[in-house]
Amino acid sequence: MKNDYFYVTTPIYYVNDKPHIGHAYSTIIADTIARYKRLCGYKTFFLTGTDEHGLKIEKEADSRGITPKQLADSVHIKFKELFNAIDISFDRFIRTTDEDHIRTVQIAFKKMAANGDVYLSEYEGWYCTPCETFITEKSLMEGEKCPQCGRPTSKVKEKTYYLKLKKYEKQLLDYIEKNPDFIKPDFRRNEVLSFVKEGLEDLSISRTSFKWGIPVPGDEKHVIYVWFDALLNYLTGIGYEDYLNGKNPDFPLFFKTANHIVGKDILRFHAVYWPIMLFSLGIEPPKSVTAHGWWLTEGRKMSKSAGNAVDPISLIETYGSDPLRFYLLSEITLGLDGDFNADNFILRYNSALANDLGNLVSRTAAMLNKYTGGNVPGTDSASEDDGILKTCADILKNLDKRYDEYGFAKILEDIFKFINILNKYINDSAPWKLNADDPEQKRKLLNILRTASISIYYISYLIYPFMPETSRKINDIFNIQPFDAPGFSAGVDSISEVCEGLFKDGLRIAEKAEIMFPKINTDKNIKK
Ligand code: MSP
Repeated sequence: MKNDYFYVTTPIYYVNDKPHIGHAYSTIIADTIARYKRLCGYKTFFLTGTDEHGLKIEKEADSRGITPKQLADSVHIKFKELFNAIDISFDRFIRTTDEDHIRTVQIAFKKMAANGDVYLSEYEGWYCTPCETFITEKSLMEGEKCPQCGRPTSKVKEKTYYLKLKKYEKQLLDYIEKNPDFIKPDFRRNEVLSFVKEGLEDLSISRTSFKWGIPVPGDEKHVIYVWFDALLNYLTGIGYEDYLNGKNPDFPLFFKTANHIVGKDILRFHAVYWPIMLFSLGIEPPKSVTAHGWWLTEGRKMSKSAGNAVDPISLIETYGSDPLRFYLLSEITLGLDGDFNADNFILRYNSALANDLGNLVSRTAAMLNKYTGGNVPGTDSASEDDGILKTCADILKNLDKRYDEYGFAKILEDIFKFINILNKYINDSAPWKLNADDPEQKRKLLNILRTASISIYYISYLIYPFMPETSRKINDIFNIQPFDAPGFSAGVDSISEVCEGLFKDGLRIAEKAEIMFPKINTDKNIKK
């Protein structure tokens, strides 16, 4: 195990409604990177969960005639079910109604107040409940609509505690400027910089006009603003309270490496308000905040309220989890928006997964069973790879860097190029035409089968973070332990050694390899 730490988080999801593929997307991004880092031997912590307080949840519960806690109890299960169905390997699923989180929020509030960063005053202005955001007069759209979601805002006038943002404006600007990788991608970083340069206003962090939230310690008429509460989940999740009590020395080591994955709509909370809350607590801001784009349907942001949400569960039931993971990560470059299109999903499934990857594995297994009795030749009987493994070595060389850039679409593109090179190599060298009784042709045959098998092992390694189930199935065929077997780790510098060891004396494969990606009949359509 490396002595390096890696901490990755998703946004915590509102429990006003069941999840759609936009929510699956944030979580799959974080899962992929967490799996990769674990595979490389990092001490990894992956946090996800649900955001359960605030006016939006209270209103939704009212409209259903249940309490907010009942609503949260039932909807958070839907997120857990989805995450289970798409193989999300979180280390903790946090709920903002968890006791340790409530305590952590109150501790943080008191600490900021003790540092002189909180004061009581009055807020008079606009509030967007769907976004849970205070809207300044100057940014309101026509008809007093929210500039973010376009829905009507409401006028609020109430006593509130403020957090001093202005005080930290300069410190934040310096921090963003000195840490070019703090906000990704670059064009988003520039947006945040110009927002901060326009000047910050202090942030209202409590409400008195409803009840569903964490009480302000010492002034229980106020509940803490839901975003102040929610952002602190990133501290609760890795044991801030225990750390303050001298019981968790790992806390700063993890937090220093924190990578927050967020949608572009919530970047400002993470790149402006959150670092300032941390400055006030005396904690260095996270390593990075990465903003991804939106999944659209027919050009509009997918959401339950727009009535265009694609249900991930029905997709998974029909096509499996890995195809969805593959599609979401390969189809758009992180940071940009993408249109979810059912026909395109099926097209990509059939061509990349069924034809290219699925076929490669099943034809190789079939050839091994036919020509060598299911034995992958060892080094003593086959040793050349006709330059094929060089392509794979090039992918490995760039892999760490690509992951650091969240270049998922590029990594997958490289892997599938390699798969196609391998398919072409098999087609061109046509092992089925070789005569096994001729020693020279036999040598050639064994070399092809060994090269294909080793390459498939590398492919299984490379796809593991993206498609863990498929990787597991491939390893099963080759009777090799999966990449998430307890205690196993191999980074890009050590995987070739692992591979050499495994394939040295040859391997015996399973007699029957199931078809991993049955071809989809294109007349069939995706249910929304
Ligand atoms: N609860 C807040 C986050 C608090 S984090 C401390 C919240 N919740 S949310 O449920 O509304 O959204 C959660 C995430 O899902 C956000 O990152 C948002 O960008 C993402 N998505 C919601 N709809 C989306 C798409 N249509 N496409 C991609 N991601 C989208 O905001």
